[in-house]
Amino acid sequence: MPEKRTVLVTGGCGFIGTNLVRLLVGSGGYHVVNLDALTYAANPLSLVDLADHPRYEFVKGNITDRRLVPALFEKYQPAGVFHLAAETHVDRSIVSVDDFVQTNVIGTYSLLEAAHAYWSGLQGERRNKFLFLHVSTDEVFGSLGKEGYFSEETPYAPNSPYSASKAASDHFVRAYHQTYGLPTIITNCSNNYGPYQFPEKMIPLMILNALSGKPLPVYGDGANVRDWIYVKDYCKAIQRVFENGRAGEAYVVGAGNERRNIDLVRQICDFLDEIAPPAEIHPLRERGLKSYAELIQFVEDRPGHDHRYAIDAAKITRQLGWQAEVGFEAGLRLTIEWYLSNLEWVKQASSGSYGEWIEKNYAWRALKEKK
Ligand code: NAD
Ligand code: TYD
Repeated sequence: MPEKRTVLVTGGCGFIGTNLVRLLVGSGGYHVVNLDALTYAANPLSLVDLADHPRYEFVKGNITDRRLVPALFEKYQPAGVFHLAAETHVDRSIVSVDDFVQTNVIGTYSLLEAAHAYWSGLQGERRNKFLFLHVSTDEVFGSLGKEGYFSEETPYAPNSPYSASKAASDHFVRAYHQTYGLPTIITNCSNNYGPYQFPEKMIPLMILNALSGKPLPVYGDGANVRDWIYVKDYCKAIQRVFENGRAGEAYVVGAGNERRNIDLVRQICDFLDEIAPPAEIHPLRERGLKSYAELIQFVEDRPGHDHRYAIDAAKITRQLGWQAEVGFEAGLRLTIEWYLSNLEWVKQASSGSYGEWIEKNYAWRALKEKK
């Protein structure tokens, strides 16, 4: 257990942020100051139970705010930063790039400036131990063919506006280390799934669309491959890197769960057929739906759609002893059950469009009764 340290977490109301804040606060070793602009991707219900926690503070604000952010460093004197705030959805980045440049590039630069100014004024142990941990993505490496894995040695080759903006932010983080000596670490992780993920992302979208009898839109031929990691495993990796990682380095993180999109969607349907059978759901029963898989529809492909992501996590395992603990099938079941058990959260997150019906549906009531 580390000594109790105040840390600044950005984007703590998002998917990974919520899970990370819970881990850090729960560990007892951290006082967490969460700076979040509460964009569409944040859900006020996600951390509502921590509102009065003595080791948690929320600050609503934007990482691009050149007055607020330096003031937060002055006020809280953090031992480090976990930088997660970002625009994160590839499809949105294709429609409109601006927010991605503003938050991911300018926002990261603004945060680095404030961290650098603050760190420059620190002395001794506090200066030596300070760390700026930048949470990035494996998407900066572009797309793999059938063979091979991303590692810390893989050259950057981003293909979407999202991954380009994250790549730019990684380069600034690296440059602040190389040029000014700011202690920074970058983590490049594969696709996360689990509780609190906004319903526009693949796994929650498929779960919630299925339960509402909507089509399950699989892009292209469904042969694209993603390497999935349960979010709580990733949060443990982030904590491990913050506590024991080497400044100036990067760590790629993954759990070795490669799945083709179509196989994953079919697996979600199989689990849902078991956990919340369509025959028990009023509107789906009326439609004579036997399996959620009948809702699968192949749709037009995403432009610039990366074919395959896969991670070689040997370095973080060898150097820091981290390994994923949650198997993919177990994690997927936990995730499905979490969404079924958190209807208010879903409703809030999806402003009615995804969640309305779930509140009323029979499957959920049947599931609750079974438990
Ligand atoms: P998310 O979209 O769920 O949450 C992002 C959070 O950042 C939200 O709470 C939002 O309000 C906040 N935010 C956005 N712009 C902001 C700004 N300008 N100032 C302050 N706060 C702002 O994201 P996530 O999926 O939790 O991802 C977190 C980080 O992890 C991101 O940097 C992302 O690139 C990275 N990442 C995500 C995945 C994944 O599969 N989700 C995988 C690898 C890396
Ligand atoms: P996503 O969750 O958007 O993550 P990323 O694009 O960052 O990997 O998508 C995961 C995969 O699922 C990706 O290959 C695109 C695909 N996908 C679909 O086929 N249909 C969908 O509706 C969505 C949102 C994604």
